[in-house]
Amino acid sequence: MATDQDQLQRRITALTTLQNIAQELMTELDLERLLRKILNAAVEVLNASEGSLWFWEPTDELVVLVSEDPGLVGYRMPANEGIAGWVFTHCEPLIVGDVNEDERFAQHVDDYSGFHTRSLIAVPLMTPTEKLGVVQVVNKKSGEQFDEQDQELLSALSAQAAIMYVNARLVQEVEQEKNRVISLQDQMFKKLARDLHDGPAQTLAAMMMDVEFILKLYEREPERVPAELQELRDAAAKTLDQVRNAMFQLRPLVLETQGLEPALEQYVERRNTKEGMNIHLDVRGLDDRLPARVETLCFAIIHEAIGNVKKHAEAENAWIVVERKGNKLFVAVRDDGTGFDVASTQANYDARGSLGLLNIQERAEVLGGRYAIESTPGRGTLVYLIVPLFDGQEGAARGDDAEASFVNQRKRSTGPLGFGGNDSLSPIANNGRRKGTGPLGVLGQNGQDES
Ligand SMILES: Nc1ncnc2c1ncn2[C@@H]1O[C@H](COP(=O)(O)OP(=O)(O)O)[C@@H](O)[C@H]1O
Ligand SMILES: [Mg+2]
Repeated sequence: MATDQDQLQRRITALTTLQNIAQELMTELDLERLLRKILNAAVEVLNASEGSLWFWEPTDELVVLVSEDPGLVGYRMPANEGIAGWVFTHCEPLIVGDVNEDERFAQHVDDYSGFHTRSLIAVPLMTPTEKLGVVQVVNKKSGEQFDEQDQELLSALSAQAAIMYVNARLVQEVEQEKNRVISLQDQMFKKLARDLHDGPAQTLAAMMMDVEFILKLYEREPERVPAELQELRDAAAKTLDQVRNAMFQLRPLVLETQGLEPALEQYVERRNTKEGMNIHLDVRGLDDRLPARVETLCFAIIHEAIGNVKKHAEAENAWIVVERKGNKLFVAVRDDGTGFDVASTQANYDARGSLGLLNIQERAEVLGGRYAIESTPGRGTLVYLIVPLFDGQEGAARGDDAEASFVNQRKRSTGPLGFGGNDSLSPIANNGRRKGTGPLGVLGQNGQDES
């Protein structure tokens, strides 16, 4: 029979298209292009006139990320509204022959776009572990209604597309991560170059002038030469110290060979004796070596935080606490200095040339850790971070108790920060990229990020 033949032919064409599409999607790693291709494919396979991809967002809304109608991109509505919302919440496909007869239809979408929807089909866009959103296709070109076969095709396409999407997203995240690490490194090199320029390069230039001076002095007033040479030696010693500091900052040898605890001991000893600082070090649970990048980045963070204490805090004391509990590493740097207004520093960050706190945050993020800074003018500053050492449900669950008690302890401790009155676990900034808590992502004393 001709109709059966037609049906069969139609099915074969559709399946071939589907297969071609799947292959094409597989090679597309650019998220935006991928989404566009998914939508084009859906509209083409179903021979429809329009379509849109709705994605769920943490505000519990569905938002149009791609649409044949560019005006609709960015349109959002509550995640349980409209046909798309129904399909999303029920995780079931739906065909609506006539939208006028379905009260779930969200007329405001048409009102907004100026498009006239007659009939539509929507299927969930999801992987076995994640609900992403909804693929919605409207108005068959032939004027017919969507049928079971359309639904089957669209569901198959959507299932493939969801996996491709998750893959491409992962690739994008890895790419972003890589760029972050590169830019972090770049900043470190720039800082080092600046330090070398401001420190050793300048002293060496001055020393060369001194040598010229001493050469002339040797002819005119040789008796003054020994005193001048002594000054020169002191300057050389100072330069050597600066170079050693820079080297230490770049990668303390002891960190590599002996680990974080000895490196911190050496570092604290160095700053206490050479710079008259009063840093108290408390390291616990570090009998085993930590992963190299955890050691390096934690050291760099502590280095940066102590650098800030020295530079800004006018503190009498500083405390470094590093504690490993199960699969988490807790790090805190506290001082009893002037403190500062975190929120306003944060707000002016773009205008400032400084990057210290930003570097701390970025390093914490590279470690997949959580970081926060709390400070009150006149009452010191506390920088802390919590770094996961391994993945794993069990460890994570145990870690959360440990986390609360660590933070509370840091706050209750009798230091001049005087967090003692506040028993509640103050929020820890979860600076995950998807959360975006401002340019610094740090919390002021009244931080309201509840993670
Ligand atoms: N421990 C601290 N005590 C007092 N003020 C601090 C402390 N840490 C940071 N700050 C303030 O935050 C600002 C930003 O710090 P940072 O990003 O490291 O930049 P920089 O140190 O180059 O100024 C500092 O200029 C300072 O005003
Ligand atoms: Mg700084």
